[in-house]
Amino acid sequence: MGQPNPTERIQTGRRLTYSSVQTANSEIHQGHLVLINPEHPIRQTISSDRLLPLSSIPTIHTLHDGMLLDKTCLRNLAILLEACQGMNEIIAVSGYRTKLEQEKIYESSLADNGAEYTARYVALPDRSEHQTGLAIDVGKRNKDVDFIAPAFPDSGVYKRFKQLAARHGFIQRYKEGKESITRISCEPWHFRYVGYPHAEIMEQNDWCLEEYIDRLESRTFENDHLVFENERSFTEIYYVAAEAGTSTAIPLIECDRYYLSGNNRDGFIVTAVLVKGSRTHV
Ligand code: DAL
Ligand code: ZN
Repeated sequence: MGQPNPTERIQTGRRLTYSSVQTANSEIHQGHLVLINPEHPIRQTISSDRLLPLSSIPTIHTLHDGMLLDKTCLRNLAILLEACQGMNEIIAVSGYRTKLEQEKIYESSLADNGAEYTARYVALPDRSEHQTGLAIDVGKRNKDVDFIAPAFPDSGVYKRFKQLAARHGFIQRYKEGKESITRISCEPWHFRYVGYPHAEIMEQNDWCLEEYIDRLESRTFENDHLVFENERSFTEIYYVAAEAGTSTAIPLIECDRYYLSGNNRDGFIVTAVLVKGSRTHV
């Protein structure tokens, strides 16, 4: 017998059965784990049916009317605000932005704050996570709120929000010490929805999104998956490179539910949840 090919190795190994789902390669640019930065710009505009107005949750205070967010991001933001009891003290400052809005923000910051400040705190159009609907700037609810850099203290209800963010799927996207990777200065106010348990894994390992996406690329279907365990479930996370052509057959382990996200780079990330007690684990 020669070297087993990857499929044979899986079939004779611990993953006895699996199926696959054919996915369009355009989906690489969609999902909660898309990496948006200077090297990985927005490639697909979010479809309007994924966006919801923050006004649909009347307990959330917003800096301006008509603010929108991705619906999963918004649902989890509301739960997080409730969990930290921050509904009255925290204001949503900026959510989804169109490319045109990001252009206007960038231009007005250049005029008002200069090039150096703007490079530190404002992403170029099509390089902003706000265009995905998955980013939310939050601030201390004051009379004067700075739109570009709102105050978000490291104390009280704001600290609680930060501490509980990961278990609700949010990361502080631009942290101190990661500037050479993210190319954005520390922004205590900018939270990005990536989903649970990804946010927890990043927080526990002190990885920013660039580092997490890099590390996941070695966690292929054939190799060891990243496994996250909590009291209710095991979650297996693995990476599938996009195949040449227009679609990719994404292998799926046996699980109770799974989520797919593109990485906005070269492939897909599978998040497969196995509920404890629902099947025999090997
Ligand atoms: N403030 C972040 C970097 C943005 O403009 O998207
Ligand atoms: Zn922001």
